[in-house]
Amino acid sequence: MKSFTAHWRSPSNIALVKYWGKHGVQLPANASVSFTLSECHTDTLLTAVPRSNGQMVKVWVDGREESSFLPKIDAFLKHVMPVLPELKDFSFEVRTHNTFPHSSGIASSASGMSALALCMYDIASQVTGKEMNLEKVSELARLGSGSASRSVYGPVSVWGDHDDYDGSSDRYAIPFKGHDKIFSTYLDTILIVDRGEKKVSSSVGHGLITHHPFANARYEVARKNMKVMKRVLAEGDLETFVKIVEDEALMLHALMMTSDPSFILMKPYTLKIIEMVREYRKTNRSFLCFTLDAGANVHLLYPEAEKASVGDFIENELKQYCADGYYICDQVGGGPFKID
Ligand code: PMV
Repeated sequence: MKSFTAHWRSPSNIALVKYWGKHGVQLPANASVSFTLSECHTDTLLTAVPRSNGQMVKVWVDGREESSFLPKIDAFLKHVMPVLPELKDFSFEVRTHNTFPHSSGIASSASGMSALALCMYDIASQVTGKEMNLEKVSELARLGSGSASRSVYGPVSVWGDHDDYDGSSDRYAIPFKGHDKIFSTYLDTILIVDRGEKKVSSSVGHGLITHHPFANARYEVARKNMKVMKRVLAEGDLETFVKIVEDEALMLHALMMTSDPSFILMKPYTLKIIEMVREYRKTNRSFLCFTLDAGANVHLLYPEAEKASVGDFIENELKQYCADGYYICDQVGGGPFKID
């Protein structure tokens, strides 16, 4: 038996309608839709080496051996082996690099797990000669981190079964077809309000929704928002886009705050920025809006036509609320690719 390698770049994504709550093996409580990003990505080089004894995994992050990721990768491999049994006689060396710093407070699980799933499937394809299959890769990525399932496609990706999205599934994401061209060049500037590790992980947060008093209302709102978002994405209805995206972000955090135990991931400057964005939109003819993932940092979404004006607003007024003035300029991207 010989060794195999695979090298993939996979991006992060930002949800427009959020996934919050899961059951079974990482199956979502509701369908979600996201923009795939471009600049925030993970490059992973995977080497599969024939093993003699037990399966071994080693991980290097930016060239340094890192054992803190091993439990998550071990857990992922336990899910992968029944799906890709052709990999069971290998040990793995994972060399990975994120474009966004670890200390930026941006979750790397979507890009990291999708990059690893792509590498795993690629090596399985080399071993057996079967074709790469993005649906299957997305399913694998989901087992590592739910939102990672959506990073497999760009620029817009849907995960979770919903009557209005043909072919949608709880098991894997599908690409959204037919979005208005305005969304192909949409910008996402990520304001880093807090670089720290989250106090409550997404996994714990997902768990708390199961017995949440607002759970059923949330699933109903998410279902409706997915329905409306389909039309909004197809027609480029930016006014409704802004409304749904902001409502979703605030509902996600309202669910966190009203969980038992309650937790709050927003910081004072998160709220300050939200207020300033709303004020800016009122006084300028702008479609700038905010969204949040499970953290304090603020994603600003806006059309490319507003790049200069919003850029000035960020530099002159919002930057002061970012940790060390740090923000990341990203945009909607085309999805993962293989690195030669
Ligand atoms: O994929 P996870 O388990 O890290 O959960 C992601 C949850 C949110 O980012 C808050 C929402 C989403 O749909 O990405």
